[in-house]
Amino acid sequence: MTTPPAARTAHPAVTPESVDLSVEIGPLRLANPVMTASGTAGLGLEMEPFWDLSLAGAVVVKTITKLPRRGNPMPRLAETASGLLNSIGLPNKGIDHFVDVVLPKLAGKASCLVVNLAGGSVAEFAELAARLDGRPGIDALELNISCPNVEGGNLPFARDPTVVERLVAQVRRATTLPIVTKLSPNVDDIAAVARAARAGGTDAISLINTLLGMSVDWRTGRPGLGTVVGGLSGPAVKPVALRMVYEVVRNVDVPVIGIGGIVDADDALEFLTVGASAVQIGTAHYRSPDVVPRVVEGLRERLAAAGRRRVAEQIGTLRVG
Ligand SMILES: Cc1cc2nc3c(=O)[nH]c(=O)nc-3n(C[C@H](O)[C@H](O)[C@H](O)COP(=O)(O)O)c2cc1C
Repeated sequence: MTTPPAARTAHPAVTPESVDLSVEIGPLRLANPVMTASGTAGLGLEMEPFWDLSLAGAVVVKTITKLPRRGNPMPRLAETASGLLNSIGLPNKGIDHFVDVVLPKLAGKASCLVVNLAGGSVAEFAELAARLDGRPGIDALELNISCPNVEGGNLPFARDPTVVERLVAQVRRATTLPIVTKLSPNVDDIAAVARAARAGGTDAISLINTLLGMSVDWRTGRPGLGTVVGGLSGPAVKPVALRMVYEVVRNVDVPVIGIGGIVDADDALEFLTVGASAVQIGTAHYRSPDVVPRVVEGLRERLAAAGRRRVAEQIGTLRVG
């Protein structure tokens, strides 16, 4: 039996190509919800041999600091059963090099460019943000607050909601760019930290950064990482990340970007279902450097198969009870 023409017009089939993947994250509008996660796709340029940077919803560069940093002692990576441990230590050539050398090469290549920053003090975060304000080619800042507060007992900023609110508020005053605050999972109450960041004026939250972990070879007695303790990422952390996205979405009125263990479109859809407006992909780049365009295509196919015309229809569709 053929479908009458009228019915066809009223319910046109959803094809992968016709799915609208655009999402809004506060003031940011992305062509699709798939972003790179900071530190895992270099400065973006390193991915160019594998895919056109404009295919990502956004490219997030690895953390930039005020001064150049050499990073941590080797070994900096250790594989575990279902995750990766790292203690890279934010090696980079500093903000001057980024502004003068990297940014001119990057500008215009990504459809949305997010610069991830880390300071050793609240004032340094604000200084870095001010330095980037108004630079052509930058669409948003992401604050890596998992780094130690050298003025506050060397504890990560992310552990103290009062400091987080003050930090974000100072950055807010220093820039007109949208701010994404990236949270650490190594806290008791993730919603309290997200609420503090929102009170300080963040436009969005991204989470999670890596979970503290370690590995050891019992035969040699040597730890897997030169720093002994490092950050766990990859599929092992996905359930923790989903739980934390859930807690923030449920308790705080702020757009959320989900990160943690995403390797394919199904993983990305899980985060969107829980309420994330977009996702970032990190460790999966090491196994398959073309993971970002693959997940974008996978989203189109799965959403079309599920009859969704817009990815936005999937966001926050978690059914409890
Ligand atoms: C090797 C490596 C380097 C990373 N470097 C950074 C970084 O420079 N800044 C940052 O905010 N997060 C950094 N991260 C954390 C990731 O951006 C991401 O939050 C985390 O790995 C969880 O996502 P995944 O499981 O998809 O990797 C790094 C992670 C890895 C594995």
